Amino acid sequence: MLFKSQSSTQKNARHFQKRGRMFFLENITSYFGKIEALKAISLTVDKGEILFITGSSGAGKTTLLRILAGEIVPIKGRIQCPQGDCRIARVFQDLRLIGKQTCETNLLLSYDPDIYRNRDEFVYDMMEFSRIMGIKDRLHLEIKNSNGGLKQKVAIIRALLSKPDVILLDEPTSSLDFENANKLFDILNLYNIKKGLTVIWASHNRDLVRNFSGRIVHLDQGRLVHSGRACFI
Ligand SMILES: Nc1ncnc2c1ncn2[C@@H]1O[C@H](COP(=O)(O)OP(=O)(O)O)[C@@H](O)[C@H]1O
Ligand SMILES: [Mg+2]
Repeated sequence: MLFKSQSSTQKNARHFQKRGRMFFLENITSYFGKIEALKAISLTVDKGEILFITGSSGAGKTTLLRILAGEIVPIKGRIQCPQGDCRIARVFQDLRLIGKQTCETNLLLSYDPDIYRNRDEFVYDMMEFSRIMGIKDRLHLEIKNSNGGLKQKVAIIRALLSKPDVILLDEPTSSLDFENANKLFDILNLYNIKKGLTVIWASHNRDLVRNFSGRIVHLDQGRLVHSGRACFI
């Protein structure tokens, strides 16, 4: 169940703490060969925060997300990532869906019995997310025959179905219009409020994310040049 009563959250025995740090980065520098992708980045992300990482193409957004995910280790600097049973979900820029399978199968394949009490509960959530995102009537389509927006929504739903504590999204709205981007923000915002989900959303489109509530950190050629409330930037 997506947002059931407090008691079902308690039964789940995974309480969120809204206070405290989720990530702490100090003077992170990262190279690809001779390219300095990130330059002395210092950043703290609190639990339950909504953070947008903006910057033009090549600014270092994806590299920063990959560092937060623990996928690449920076050459310099100090980093503290969440430990223990903290679950990090990712929406990759290239989505990583199976083209020959339907949208529904792509979602069903992510079923994890360690996360859900049973498959019915998972399918219930899957259908609820599909309804909220407006794709319920298109779940039968094969990914290879789906448009960019549908694929993006499937990838986002798949990430949310893992009941994450943190979600890292890399350009999640590149194929979505403003209305759908707004809908995505509303869903993440609701999850943030109800479950303390930490949201880290990378986008080259600062004009878009300015419409949402949260903090923006802006990267310019690998440097963090600005941090502030989205609506004031
Ligand atoms: N796997 C890679 N190999 C070589 N260079 C890379 C790789 N990934 C990123 N870069 C370089 O690092 C810089 C930052 O890239 P990236 O983090 O992808 O930026 P953004 O996501 O903001 O577009 C760019 O100059 C890019 O060309
Ligand atoms: Mg990128």
